[in-house]
Amino acid sequence: MIPGMGAVATTLIAGVEAIRRGMAKPIGSISQMGTIRLGKRTDNNSPLIKDFVDIAPLEDLVFTGWDIFGGNLYDAAKTAQVLDRDTLEEIRPFLESIEPMPAVFDQHYVKRLTAKHQKVGKNKCDLANQIRNDIAEFKTKTDRQVMIWCGSTEIYLEQTEVHQTLEAFEKGLVNDDPGISPSMLYAWAALKEGIPFANGAPNLTVDIPALKELSRKMNAPICGKDFKTGQTFIKTVLAPAFKTRMLGVAGWYSTNILGNRDGEVLDDPESFKTKEVSKLGVLEHIFQPELHPDLYKDLYHKVRINYYPPRGDNKEGWDNIDIFGWLGYPMQLKVDFLCRDSILAAPLALDLVLFMDLAARSSELKGLGIQEWLSFYFKDPDSAPGVYPEHDLFIQSMKLKNTLRHIMGQDLITHLGLDYYGE
Ligand SMILES: NC(=O)c1ccc[n+]([C@@H]2O[C@H](COP(=O)([O-])OP(=O)(O)OC[C@H]3O[C@@H](n4cnc5c(N)ncnc54)[C@H](O)[C@@H]3O)[C@@H](O)[C@H]2O)c1
Repeated sequence: MIPGMGAVATTLIAGVEAIRRGMAKPIGSISQMGTIRLGKRTDNNSPLIKDFVDIAPLEDLVFTGWDIFGGNLYDAAKTAQVLDRDTLEEIRPFLESIEPMPAVFDQHYVKRLTAKHQKVGKNKCDLANQIRNDIAEFKTKTDRQVMIWCGSTEIYLEQTEVHQTLEAFEKGLVNDDPGISPSMLYAWAALKEGIPFANGAPNLTVDIPALKELSRKMNAPICGKDFKTGQTFIKTVLAPAFKTRMLGVAGWYSTNILGNRDGEVLDDPESFKTKEVSKLGVLEHIFQPELHPDLYKDLYHKVRINYYPPRGDNKEGWDNIDIFGWLGYPMQLKVDFLCRDSILAAPLALDLVLFMDLAARSSELKGLGIQEWLSFYFKDPDSAPGVYPEHDLFIQSMKLKNTLRHIMGQDLITHLGLDYYGE
């Protein structure tokens, strides 16, 4: 169930259908193409993850969702201009068969969009209950459900009183508290229905005590926010490399040009602020300047996103990194990533849906609330209070795979390996 059926959602859904028909491979998806080593290196036992854990097969996936634009997903995919015409034509009837339901939307939270296809209700509680009705209807047609927010980035919100407890939050729904955004209404509705909720955007959404409480209470998993697709993906590979070699970083300037609807929404300073906070957080946690002041205390980190229509979904992200080495001698690294936003995001969304559904069926994972083992997918991973989030991509990957080994009763892989050299 997808609130926000734009570029990412249509690329995910059309992609799954194309893969089901044998037209393409699920490249970029760990759940579909990744393997997992079991036992010792000498055992030569590395099954596919999808054969090792009981995740739903692609054939069984059914899609629905909500959007503020009417029409069907063939039209939405054409508007998004990510996939080529031939691919879309071949699966046109399938895409035409999916029509987003009217959305819960409020322009206060996404300034650059105007809704054409929207629910009306007497207050936020009424609107959230309408979403619950939609979910209940979908439950009659499917065995299990997962919700993943692929909607636009909302304006930056700070936590207030209304976010602190479930009781305060539910009162706020009735009182139309401005701290409650549409994405929170979808999340509340999903969790109330016992459905896991993942967030592809940097919105505050479930990152509040009230919805974390609801998640644990309902055994409905939640996880971090904002898909880690392009620039931040590369950042969380390079930064740990510098740190592990004890190389200093004086400055990291990141800029992007992007011409899709997401870029247009992020052109609004209030939505950009939400994205900026999410993108800026990673270096602080990786470099730990309090432990390594000589290397990172004065790091200047800047992130810009510029809306530039000619590029559409094909984003270009530049990084200029000023590093320093032995005796403080400066060096530079430049990265120019000509990427495709939704092509990078779709496999992450697929994996999250499948792994969140797995978590909801795992007796060990479902009552935990936050699924920290899925940090791998997020720019802004969530973690327990007092525990700093893990941003290093390879530690995240190890955590994900060890969690899968753990729930399947396999030995964890620590990479110690001394036993290869014993008697
Ligand atoms: N593509 C990436 O690489 C990437 C990476 C990280 C995060 N994201 C985030 O994922 C989200 C989706 O990206 P996209 O490129 O598909 O954007 P998009 O603009 O193509 O799609 C977003 C859709 O959400 C809809 N929408 C907005 N508010 C809604 C509401 N309240 N209810 C229902 N629908 C609503 C919009 O009408 C639009 O169709 C954005 O928030 C983006 O920042 C994308």
